[in-house]
Amino acid sequence: MDLTVSRPRRLVGEVVAPGDKSVSHRAVMLNSIGEGQATVRNFSPGDDCTSTMGIMRALGVEIERSEASDDAGDTLVVKGAGVDGLREPDDVLDAGNSGTTMRLMSGILAGRDFKSVMTGDDSLRSRPMDRIIKPLSMMGAVIRGRENDTLAPLEFDGGTLSGIEYDLPVASAQLKSAILLAGLRADGKTRITQPDASRDHTERMLAAMGADIEVNGLSVTVGESEIDCVDVDVPGDISSAAFWIVAGLIHPNAEIVVKGVGINPTRAGVLTALLDMGANIELVDERDVAGEPVADVVARTSNLRGTELAGSIMPLMMDEVPIVAVAAAMAEDETVIRDAEELRIKETDRISATVDWLVTAGVEAEPRDDGMAIVGSGRIAGGTYQSQDDHRIAMALGIAGMVAEDPITIVEASCASISYPEFWDVLRSLGGVVE
Ligand code: S3P
Repeated sequence: MDLTVSRPRRLVGEVVAPGDKSVSHRAVMLNSIGEGQATVRNFSPGDDCTSTMGIMRALGVEIERSEASDDAGDTLVVKGAGVDGLREPDDVLDAGNSGTTMRLMSGILAGRDFKSVMTGDDSLRSRPMDRIIKPLSMMGAVIRGRENDTLAPLEFDGGTLSGIEYDLPVASAQLKSAILLAGLRADGKTRITQPDASRDHTERMLAAMGADIEVNGLSVTVGESEIDCVDVDVPGDISSAAFWIVAGLIHPNAEIVVKGVGINPTRAGVLTALLDMGANIELVDERDVAGEPVADVVARTSNLRGTELAGSIMPLMMDEVPIVAVAAAMAEDETVIRDAEELRIKETDRISATVDWLVTAGVEAEPRDDGMAIVGSGRIAGGTYQSQDDHRIAMALGIAGMVAEDPITIVEASCASISYPEFWDVLRSLGGVVE
């Protein structure tokens, strides 16, 4: 599906952020291996979390899903199978496009007394899996992958898990979580040290479920544990909200309110970055929802200026770089993004994908090995651009269309459904004409 977006004269409205993808994945996975039963409200509507749910069902977990009403996301009722209660699947497990599903599920499938095979789509089958196979194998799991144990499909074939001490080579929440989940069934303690902070939803949820887990600065230690199911009210996804926040900042006549946005500090780097660029952002009604901080975010037309983004902020905003790049193109002066080499191994190479479309749109931008430099001019040219089947590139192009000089046509726009199926409907409701 191709879509064309053009600039509305005014951009004023209220949006409810859809349920957070990262929290939704964890709410299904952890409750599936918990004792008891839990209700998960405002579950992410994206295809990625549906992949996780499908895999847990294939492993014998009973999960009921009921339709969203109004603005609320779907509700799940998960009957926990217990930490050792999963059963051998009849077929290959399909993680679709979801790196989080494949990497976190690997921690759950590692060292089970049954065989399983997990695969994914073309994009996921080209993303590195050695980063999880290595530590999980050190723990005693037997895992095989294509191309010398680096790529999916992955085959899990038993093993006996023991705790390890492991320094993560990269600040990845997926890698950290995979090891922690295996650590729940390992003999002794598993201790992980991260080079920088990454999202901490796994640690928070495991603690709420009664796991033996301790966080000490950049180290996390987990011991063999049974966990209890807990109800989860999933906060709104800041990674989805970021598109509307940037739209509100860069449109010349705008005020957008995004309701119910999760602002966990390990996710909110995008707000810090935009504030540093001079953004007029206000946080209203800050509150706590099921152990996660939440606020409504108001974004108003702003005169943005370029900035330098590097170091420990990057893991806290990695998924938001494609939309921050649009803000940078509309800002004054240069924005330089460094220490973001992880972008090269996301759903696409997001450094190339972003710089390529910006250059075609007349923006002065250049790729760097670990990031990019963008000289803002306040102008983005219309035209036809490829999403490269990457949801965040498609949505960044959609927001660019709301400020571009001429309409922007996005090829393969429907991939937004990976994280945000209602994205184009919301864009239409905000007046960004979509043909
Ligand atoms: C995620 C972690 C991040 C992020 C991804 C979701 C998670 O990946 O990019 O979209 O839910 O744990 P890495 O942990 O590999 O950096």
